[in-house]
Amino acid sequence: MIDSFGRVIDYLRLSLTERCTLRCAYCRVDEGLCPKSQELNTEEFILLAEACVELGIQRIRLTGGEPLLRKDLPQIVRGIAALPGLNDLSITTNAQMLAELAGDLKTAGLMRLNISMDSLDENLFAKLTGGGSLQKVLDGIQAAIAAGFDPIKINAVLMKGINDHEVDDFIALTVKHKVDVRFIEYMPIGSGNGSNKLRLNNQELIAERPWLKPLPPRFHSQPSSDYTFEGALGRVGFISPISHRFCSDCNRIRIMSDGTLRTCLGRDAEISLREALTEGKDALKKVIKEAVFEKPEKHCFDQVALEKRNMSRIGG
Ligand code: GTP
Ligand code: 5AD
Ligand code: SF4
Repeated sequence: MIDSFGRVIDYLRLSLTERCTLRCAYCRVDEGLCPKSQELNTEEFILLAEACVELGIQRIRLTGGEPLLRKDLPQIVRGIAALPGLNDLSITTNAQMLAELAGDLKTAGLMRLNISMDSLDENLFAKLTGGGSLQKVLDGIQAAIAAGFDPIKINAVLMKGINDHEVDDFIALTVKHKVDVRFIEYMPIGSGNGSNKLRLNNQELIAERPWLKPLPPRFHSQPSSDYTFEGALGRVGFISPISHRFCSDCNRIRIMSDGTLRTCLGRDAEISLREALTEGKDALKKVIKEAVFEKPEKHCFDQVALEKRNMSRIGG
């Protein structure tokens, strides 16, 4: 699919649920807005994915909330992985339940894993996540490595005065383990998330570490700028939507767990696919294609905070 700015759209982020096992302050200000009963079922997710792949989507990332909460996750993964034309199927998870599920997900056809982890300090981790267990994440990472996932990317949202003293500890992880670590600039999404006061500027973090050497991207249009240094087994990445806007290169759309299409993370425009879902694949393809053509040029984080949806609803 091509949008009105000539960008090739070939990447779908599909949120499977907005429910989550954690309560990260920046992501989930209150309980989810979409009741579980409104979330799509296994067949509907697979049909959506099929319609998108037939329209030219080559890469799908499953998100949430916490996608591992879906009991039908292995079926969804199996159904989507079998779609001809799909090159990449990945997931973003908080890894609280990963240790038990990593092997099954690999067998079902999942190719890559990104893991959210905002602190390496057990107490701070629990505080930031509303009671999450750092040990479970670390066990999840080991299980994912043992299951053969590669690359494994760790996402850390840095917050001034809260976890920014851990930057070099996170970078050191890439020496001990074959994982990538990415630092994400805190985005103003979700009601009153305070990101403008807490955000760090990734360009400053890079400038302060001249030993980081730039690497070519793994994929075209990837949001992260990647770096390496002597002794690193994995990459150090910086996702900088504010200090280094990447919208002109954007290749992605999002579908939320109730079947709402969002063509830009940083704009509130949304289109429900529910009616088209009941009509079938051709109707779905028509609505998606038209909406993609109208994809906004860029996010508006420099002007307004987006308060209508929490990140846990959109899927990041
Ligand atoms: P891969 O490159 O496929 O590994 O995935 P990713 O890095 O895009 O996915 P992940 O779910 O790990 O997201 C990492 C961070 O990038 C999250 O904070 C996302 O919200 C952010 N992100 C992903 N896509 C976009 C985008 O299109 N725009 C903006 N502003 N942020 C994005
Ligand atoms: N700004 C930046 N990243 C965020 N994430 C969640 N909320 C925000 C935000 N406001 C990240 C999570 C997860 C990824 C999908 O999005 O840490 O790793
Ligand atoms: Fe859940 Fe991830 Fe959001 Fe934290 S960042 S509340 S783990 S979806």
